Amino acid sequence: MKLQIVQVSNMKYSIMALTLLIVMVPAVGSAESQERKGQRLFAGCLDKVDDRATLETGLFVCKGKRDPEPFGGNGRACGDCHVPGDNFGISEKRIAKLKSDHPFFFRGLDEDQKLLRTHGLVHVIIPGSIDEFRQTPKLVHLQTLCDKKGNCDSLGLRGDRVTNLCAFSIEAIKNHMAKTVKRVPGKDFRVPTAKECKWLVAYMVSDLVADQDERNR
Ligand code: HEC
Repeated sequence: MKLQIVQVSNMKYSIMALTLLIVMVPAVGSAESQERKGQRLFAGCLDKVDDRATLETGLFVCKGKRDPEPFGGNGRACGDCHVPGDNFGISEKRIAKLKSDHPFFFRGLDEDQKLLRTHGLVHVIIPGSIDEFRQTPKLVHLQTLCDKKGNCDSLGLRGDRVTNLCAFSIEAIKNHMAKTVKRVPGKDFRVPTAKECKWLVAYMVSDLVADQDERNR
């Protein structure tokens, strides 16, 4: 009889422990996976990012297939310009090593291919305000520049852009990742969902991006 009571109370503890586990694991998991989901979108990977290969090559390497059209666009992903091995910018040395059919050199937009190849100058167009060739800035400092929700002190090389990371990401997709210069939403690219934008922001302000400084070669 005594044995039975012990068994029952053991079972009670097991159930309690199990319940705690079920409640806690998704809570911990989701905080982690938001950053990872954002990383996948940023890198243009349909599956996870291969961390080791990414670290070794300095360029994002996917574990599975690469999304042929990140955000329904021209094939470029954020991570083709903001590469991990260059603190999430891109150096002229790295550009010189890219194959000519790399999405970085997508030819259907209003880029100056010579400026792009030799100086890494990208055409930045914000209708009605900006029409210039600018270098891709590093992103490792975003963690100190922005709060967790993605509201930043300033963004863009001249500090003349929207200061919210989600709004900035939408502009980046429209600007650099559209299929044609018409940049029609839903046709040339697709606007990220609120969730996707949250994930991108979570990634950009996370240690996954901030800590790349030391890994730079
Ligand atoms: C074709 C290359 C290219 C692609 C693709 C690209 N970017 Fe950029 N990114 C740039 C350039 C160039 C700038 C500088 C813009 C400026 O100064 O106005 C920039 C600036 C930024 C900044 C501002 C950083 C700072 O310190 O001010 C953020 C954040 C950013 N990009 C995020 C993204 C995200 C997110 C994506 C994908 C959705 C993306 N970028 C895709 C080239 C690119």
